[in-house]
Amino acid sequence: MFRPSFALLAAALLNVTRAQNETKAEPATHFLPPGYCCTVLTISDISERVTYPGQSAYEASLASYFDGKSRLTPDCIVQPKTAEEVSTAVKVLVSASLLKPCEFAVRSGGHTPIPGSNNVDNGVTIDLLYMNGTSYNVDTEVASISPAARWGSVYQTLEPLGRMVAGGRGSTVGVGGYLLGGGISHYAPRVGLSCDNVLNFQVVLADGRILDANKNTNADLFTALKGGSSNFGIVTRYDMETFQSEDLWAGIVSYPAWTADQHFKALVNFGLKPNRDPNAALIIFQGYSTASPTDVVRAAFDYTKPLARPDAYREFFAITNNISDTTKIQPMSSVAAEFTSVTTNRVQFRTLSFKIDLATLQETARLYKILLLELQTKASGQWRISCLHQVWSTLYTANSTARGGNVLGMERYTENFIMYQSYLSWSETKDDELFINLGLALTDGIQKFAASKGTAVEYLYLNYADKDQDPLSAYGADKVKFMKTVAREYDPLSIYQTLLPGGFKISNV
Ligand SMILES: Cc1cc2nc3c(=O)[nH]c(=O)nc-3n(C[C@H](O)[C@H](O)[C@H](O)COP(=O)(O)OP(=O)(O)OC[C@H]3O[C@@H](n4cnc5c(N)ncnc54)[C@H](O)[C@@H]3O)c2cc1C
Ligand SMILES: *[C@@H]1O[C@H](CO)[C@@H](O)[C@H](O)[C@H]1NC(C)=O
Ligand SMILES: *[C@@H]1O[C@H](CO)[C@@H](O)[C@H](O)[C@H]1NC(C)=O
Ligand SMILES: *[C@@H]1O[C@H](CO)[C@@H](O)[C@H](O)[C@H]1NC(C)=O
Ligand SMILES: *[C@@H]1O[C@H](CO)[C@@H](O)[C@H](O)[C@H]1NC(C)=O
Repeated sequence: MFRPSFALLAAALLNVTRAQNETKAEPATHFLPPGYCCTVLTISDISERVTYPGQSAYEASLASYFDGKSRLTPDCIVQPKTAEEVSTAVKVLVSASLLKPCEFAVRSGGHTPIPGSNNVDNGVTIDLLYMNGTSYNVDTEVASISPAARWGSVYQTLEPLGRMVAGGRGSTVGVGGYLLGGGISHYAPRVGLSCDNVLNFQVVLADGRILDANKNTNADLFTALKGGSSNFGIVTRYDMETFQSEDLWAGIVSYPAWTADQHFKALVNFGLKPNRDPNAALIIFQGYSTASPTDVVRAAFDYTKPLARPDAYREFFAITNNISDTTKIQPMSSVAAEFTSVTTNRVQFRTLSFKIDLATLQETARLYKILLLELQTKASGQWRISCLHQVWSTLYTANSTARGGNVLGMERYTENFIMYQSYLSWSETKDDELFINLGLALTDGIQKFAASKGTAVEYLYLNYADKDQDPLSAYGADKVKFMKTVAREYDPLSIYQTLLPGGFKISNV
């Protein structure tokens, strides 16, 4: 049995700090084999949770990453079943770092398409796979959700009980990463961002302690986790506020590409409307896929009451010529099933924000068209692009502040704005550079236009951000300072900055 002592821990930490400064030369550790950190795990209390290349659990874990590029090859994957086992994994890895730094990654649903954010080459990936349940407490009306639950399973558990939570729109998306980055649900205009619907986080700190963070206990950590991603700890349970489950009027309507301008005009009026109906969520997106090669504009209408064709979308209903229409009154679980996008492809997400402005929206369409033409001449295999326009509502702010706030810096905004996401996916590895560079050119082009027009908005949504983007800085200087203070307080030795280097790190800001 491996029982890490405090002295060992301290020594390990000293070594981590030193090793960081000597990334190239580690003469003292030459004698340790490449799989050393995994070997230490296999002689610990959680040896049965460790899986290696070639074993079916290891291969299944890698195969289940949403983005093909993110299937890195860790020396081993550890799949804990409880918070205590997560704590043991962290303690063992930190102690083992006495002799050689054991880099690790944490993965819940594995949906972030940034290689290294949720997996690691030549290290250890903590895959929370088995921690995927949802339970409901009738007395408190709170749902307790484990990090690797997928939103579809959460809805399937809660709906028969007549309850619902503000979770992800696609059924396969993981709970863990989504809630730590903010979380935009169809219910957001009504009840706020998903992270602001969390009442309590159960967290494993770098020293292995298992803490609760809520409005009354560790309140600073509670606030920081709402948007602060993997900088403070590994969350092993999310306790969420629930509300009555009702059917929605929801679905996706596709229109020919030439209707884009009509949609943008309607979107401007929808987004700027005072006293907006908080039940009315909407996404307008342009899209093309080699699987059905027609350039289209889509509207996802998601009204959180069982009311068909609500007035809130009236201006969109005046746009005729739709190609297909799946709108109907249905439960959230089936809405989420329609939003599912399973991929075995390579994926890039990028994001930016701008004021609700027709000229900027039109510029996004112009640049989208250029991107599409380039890809049609240069790309091979199967590929797909979607460019999403969502209204970021000031309604989210009131619902946040009242519950202890988050770190997104939403208080800065007194007007709604557009949160833009480009989502490219492709099958051929040889096209990585093509897609990655064109995706970058698209958002750079929009950013440049918005800056020159004075319509740029600083905010970057972490859950849609790409590796080179800096969503933590975009929360604002005061939030950065706050997150740094909280990270120092709960992780004084910077373990989650150094041994867990993936994702957006406050130490890099
Ligand atoms: C098909 C699809 C649909 C989407 N739909 C939506 C949507 O409707 N609304 C929306 O807001 N976003 C949406 N997203 C974005 C989504 O929020 C992010 O991809 C999110 O990170 C997914 O969470 P995950 O648990 O699957 O991620 P993972 O990739 O497992 O984790 C993401 C990051 O969080 C860290 N992390 C994960 N779990 C923990 C934990 N328990 N403790 C500490 N750190 C942890 C990881 O280390 C990693 O850095 C969608 C993404 C996809 C691919
Ligand atoms: C890291 O290395 C640099 C350059 O050799 C040195 O100046 C610095 O003091 C070192 N820092 C630590 C923390 O050892
Ligand atoms: C949780 O994971 C286990 C093991 O992979 C699986 O059998 C089960 O169906 C999952 N449960 C849910 C609710 O997703
Ligand atoms: C889409 O077109 C069909 C057929 O014309 C029509 O019945 C339906 O109402 C349209 N949907 C929307 C959302 O406008
Ligand atoms: C969210 O904010 C709205 C508007 O301020 C308010 O009416 C509603 O009660 C809030 N809901 C929650 C759950 O805080």
